[in-house]
Amino acid sequence: MSYLVISSSLNPKSLSRLLALTAFNTFKKKGVFAEWLDLADHSIPFCDGDSTYKNPAAKNLREKVQNAKGILFAVPIYNYDVNAAAKNLIELTGDAWTNKVVGFLCAAGGKSSYMSVMGLANSLMLDFRCLIIPRFIYSTSEDFTEGKVTDPQVKDRISELIKELERLCMTLNQ
Ligand SMILES: Cc1cc2nc3c(=O)[nH]c(=O)nc-3n(C[C@H](O)[C@H](O)[C@H](O)COP(=O)(O)O)c2cc1C
Repeated sequence: MSYLVISSSLNPKSLSRLLALTAFNTFKKKGVFAEWLDLADHSIPFCDGDSTYKNPAAKNLREKVQNAKGILFAVPIYNYDVNAAAKNLIELTGDAWTNKVVGFLCAAGGKSSYMSVMGLANSLMLDFRCLIIPRFIYSTSEDFTEGKVTDPQVKDRISELIKELERLCMTLNQ
Protein backbone atom coordinates (compact mmCIF):
# COMPACT_ATOMS: atom_id res chain seq x y z
CA MET A 1 0.00 0.00 0.00
CA SER A 2 1.26 3.47 -0.83
CA TYR A 3 0.20 7.05 -0.37
CA LEU A 4 -2.06 8.59 -2.99
CA VAL A 5 -2.12 12.23 -4.07
CA ILE A 6 -5.32 13.19 -5.92
CA SER A 7 -5.68 16.36 -7.97
CA SER A 8 -9.34 16.98 -8.73
CA SER A 9 -9.41 20.26 -10.64
CA LEU A 10 -10.24 20.03 -14.34
CA ASN A 11 -8.78 23.47 -15.00
CA PRO A 12 -5.50 23.31 -16.99
CA LYS A 13 -4.27 26.34 -15.00
CA SER A 14 -5.36 24.85 -11.68
CA LEU A 15 -3.82 26.14 -8.46
CA SER A 16 -4.89 23.14 -6.38
CA ARG A 17 -2.95 20.94 -8.84
CA LEU A 18 0.16 22.98 -7.91
CA LEU A 19 -0.53 22.17 -4.26
CA ALA A 20 -0.93 18.48 -5.16
CA LEU A 21 2.29 18.51 -7.23
CA THR A 22 4.18 20.19 -4.38
CA ALA A 23 2.97 17.44 -2.04
CA PHE A 24 3.82 14.72 -4.57
CA ASN A 25 7.34 16.14 -5.05
CA THR A 26 7.80 16.37 -1.28
CA PHE A 27 7.09 12.63 -1.02
CA LYS A 28 9.62 12.03 -3.82
CA LYS A 29 12.31 14.12 -2.11
CA LYS A 30 11.79 12.11 1.07
CA GLY A 31 12.16 8.87 -0.87
CA VAL A 32 8.59 7.88 0.03
CA PHE A 33 6.54 6.26 -2.74
CA ALA A 34 3.26 7.96 -3.58
CA GLU A 35 0.82 7.37 -6.43
CA TRP A 36 -0.44 10.30 -8.51
CA LEU A 37 -4.04 10.60 -9.68
CA ASP A 38 -5.14 13.63 -11.67
CA LEU A 39 -8.86 13.58 -12.50
CA ALA A 40 -8.12 15.76 -15.53
CA ASP A 41 -6.31 12.75 -17.05
CA HIS A 42 -9.28 10.39 -16.67
CA SER A 43 -12.56 10.29 -18.47
CA ILE A 44 -15.09 8.98 -15.99
CA PRO A 45 -18.89 9.11 -16.08
CA PHE A 46 -21.11 10.99 -13.65
CA CYS A 47 -22.18 8.58 -10.93
CA ASP A 48 -25.72 7.30 -11.52
CA GLY A 49 -25.75 5.01 -8.49
CA ASP A 50 -26.20 2.07 -10.86
CA SER A 51 -24.34 0.94 -14.00
CA THR A 52 -21.53 3.52 -13.70
CA TYR A 53 -20.04 1.42 -10.86
CA LYS A 54 -19.16 -1.13 -13.56
CA ASN A 55 -17.42 1.42 -15.80
CA PRO A 56 -13.80 0.22 -16.33
CA ALA A 57 -12.29 3.70 -15.76
CA ALA A 58 -14.30 4.11 -12.55
CA LYS A 59 -13.21 0.64 -11.40
CA ASN A 60 -9.57 1.58 -12.04
CA LEU A 61 -9.89 4.68 -9.86
CA ARG A 62 -11.65 2.64 -7.20
CA GLU A 63 -8.65 0.30 -7.10
CA LYS A 64 -6.24 3.22 -6.74
CA VAL A 65 -8.21 4.55 -3.76
CA GLN A 66 -8.54 1.08 -2.24
CA ASN A 67 -4.79 0.45 -2.49
CA ALA A 68 -3.88 3.70 -0.72
CA LYS A 69 -2.95 3.74 2.94
CA GLY A 70 -3.32 7.50 3.14
CA ILE A 71 -4.72 10.06 0.71
CA LEU A 72 -3.98 13.73 0.05
CA PHE A 73 -6.96 15.22 -1.72
CA ALA A 74 -6.36 18.48 -3.59
CA VAL A 75 -9.64 20.23 -4.33
CA PRO A 76 -10.85 23.49 -5.88
CA ILE A 77 -13.56 25.27 -3.90
CA TYR A 78 -16.68 25.80 -5.98
CA ASN A 79 -19.91 27.23 -4.58
CA TYR A 80 -18.80 26.77 -0.98
CA ASP A 81 -17.99 23.09 -1.54
CA VAL A 82 -15.43 20.96 -3.37
CA ASN A 83 -15.85 20.87 -7.16
CA ALA A 84 -18.26 18.39 -8.69
CA ALA A 85 -15.39 16.25 -10.08
CA ALA A 86 -14.05 15.58 -6.57
CA LYS A 87 -17.50 14.74 -5.26
CA ASN A 88 -18.19 12.52 -8.28
CA LEU A 89 -14.98 10.58 -7.56
CA ILE A 90 -16.24 9.84 -4.07
CA GLU A 91 -19.70 8.93 -5.34
CA LEU A 92 -18.12 6.49 -7.83
CA THR A 93 -15.54 4.96 -5.50
CA GLY A 94 -17.60 5.03 -2.25
CA ASP A 95 -16.54 2.45 0.28
CA ALA A 96 -13.03 2.16 -1.22
CA TRP A 97 -12.45 5.13 1.13
CA THR A 98 -13.25 3.11 4.24
CA ASN A 99 -10.82 3.77 7.10
CA LYS A 100 -8.44 5.88 5.01
CA VAL A 101 -6.47 8.73 6.52
CA VAL A 102 -7.31 11.80 4.43
CA GLY A 103 -5.75 15.27 4.22
CA PHE A 104 -7.10 18.21 2.22
CA LEU A 105 -5.30 20.77 0.07
CA CYS A 106 -7.71 23.47 -1.06
CA ALA A 107 -7.45 26.29 -3.56
CA ALA A 108 -10.11 28.99 -3.31
CA GLY A 109 -10.83 32.42 -4.68
CA GLY A 110 -11.22 34.07 -1.27
CA LYS A 111 -10.55 33.51 2.40
CA SER A 112 -14.18 33.24 3.48
CA SER A 113 -14.76 29.71 2.17
CA TYR A 114 -12.26 28.30 4.69
CA MET A 115 -14.84 25.91 6.23
CA SER A 116 -16.37 24.84 2.93
CA VAL A 117 -14.62 21.47 2.76
CA MET A 118 -16.30 20.33 5.98
CA GLY A 119 -19.41 18.95 4.26
CA LEU A 120 -17.32 16.47 2.34
CA ALA A 121 -15.06 15.84 5.33
CA ASN A 122 -18.10 14.97 7.44
CA SER A 123 -19.40 12.59 4.82
CA LEU A 124 -16.02 10.83 4.61
CA MET A 125 -15.87 10.59 8.42
CA LEU A 126 -19.41 9.39 9.00
CA ASP A 127 -20.07 7.33 5.88
CA PHE A 128 -16.64 5.74 5.46
CA ARG A 129 -14.95 6.12 8.89
CA CYS A 130 -12.11 8.12 7.36
CA LEU A 131 -9.73 9.82 9.72
CA ILE A 132 -9.57 13.42 8.51
CA ILE A 133 -6.31 15.15 9.38
CA PRO A 134 -7.30 18.28 11.35
CA ARG A 135 -4.76 20.37 9.45
CA PHE A 136 -5.87 21.69 6.07
CA ILE A 137 -4.00 23.58 3.40
CA TYR A 138 -6.20 26.45 2.31
CA SER A 139 -4.74 28.79 -0.29
CA THR A 140 -5.73 31.63 -2.56
CA SER A 141 -4.08 33.02 -5.70
CA GLU A 142 -1.81 35.26 -3.55
CA ASP A 143 0.12 32.13 -2.55
CA PHE A 144 1.22 31.36 -6.14
CA THR A 145 3.42 33.05 -8.73
CA GLU A 146 4.06 31.92 -12.30
CA GLY A 147 2.84 28.38 -11.88
CA LYS A 148 4.49 27.74 -8.52
CA VAL A 149 3.56 27.74 -4.86
CA THR A 150 5.56 30.71 -3.59
CA ASP A 151 4.20 31.38 -0.11
CA PRO A 152 6.72 29.82 2.31
CA GLN A 153 3.98 29.22 4.90
CA VAL A 154 1.96 27.16 2.41
CA LYS A 155 5.06 25.12 1.53
CA ASP A 156 5.79 24.52 5.23
CA ARG A 157 2.19 23.55 5.86
CA ILE A 158 2.30 20.99 3.03
CA SER A 159 5.40 19.42 4.62
CA GLU A 160 3.64 19.38 8.01
CA LEU A 161 0.53 17.80 6.47
CA ILE A 162 2.66 15.02 4.96
CA LYS A 163 4.44 14.41 8.27
CA GLU A 164 1.08 14.14 10.00
CA LEU A 165 -0.26 11.78 7.30
CA GLU A 166 2.78 9.53 7.72
CA ARG A 167 2.56 9.65 11.52
CA LEU A 168 -1.14 8.76 11.57
CA CYS A 169 -0.77 5.97 8.99
CA MET A 170 2.13 4.51 10.94
CA THR A 171 0.26 4.75 14.24
CA LEU A 172 -2.76 3.06 12.70
CA ASN A 173 -0.51 0.45 11.10
CA GLN A 174 -1.76 1.20 7.59
C1 LIG B 1 -17.86 27.69 -10.47
C2 LIG B 1 -16.91 28.31 -9.46
C3 LIG B 1 -17.34 28.51 -8.18
C4 LIG B 1 -16.48 29.07 -7.23
N1 LIG B 1 -16.90 29.21 -5.94
C5 LIG B 1 -16.05 29.70 -5.00
C6 LIG B 1 -16.45 29.78 -3.63
O1 LIG B 1 -17.57 29.46 -3.24
N2 LIG B 1 -15.53 30.26 -2.74
C7 LIG B 1 -14.28 30.65 -3.11
O2 LIG B 1 -13.49 31.07 -2.25
N3 LIG B 1 -13.87 30.56 -4.41
C8 LIG B 1 -14.71 30.07 -5.34
N4 LIG B 1 -14.29 29.95 -6.65
C9 LIG B 1 -12.90 30.29 -7.01
C10 LIG B 1 -12.01 29.00 -7.07
O3 LIG B 1 -12.03 28.34 -5.82
C11 LIG B 1 -10.58 29.33 -7.45
O4 LIG B 1 -10.57 29.76 -8.79
C12 LIG B 1 -9.61 28.17 -7.27
O5 LIG B 1 -8.34 28.56 -7.72
C13 LIG B 1 -10.09 26.92 -8.00
O6 LIG B 1 -9.16 25.87 -7.87
P1 LIG B 1 -8.28 25.38 -9.12
O7 LIG B 1 -7.44 26.58 -9.51
O8 LIG B 1 -7.45 24.28 -8.57
O9 LIG B 1 -9.19 24.93 -10.20
C14 LIG B 1 -15.16 29.43 -7.61
C15 LIG B 1 -14.75 29.24 -8.94
C16 LIG B 1 -15.60 28.68 -9.86
C17 LIG B 1 -15.12 28.45 -11.27
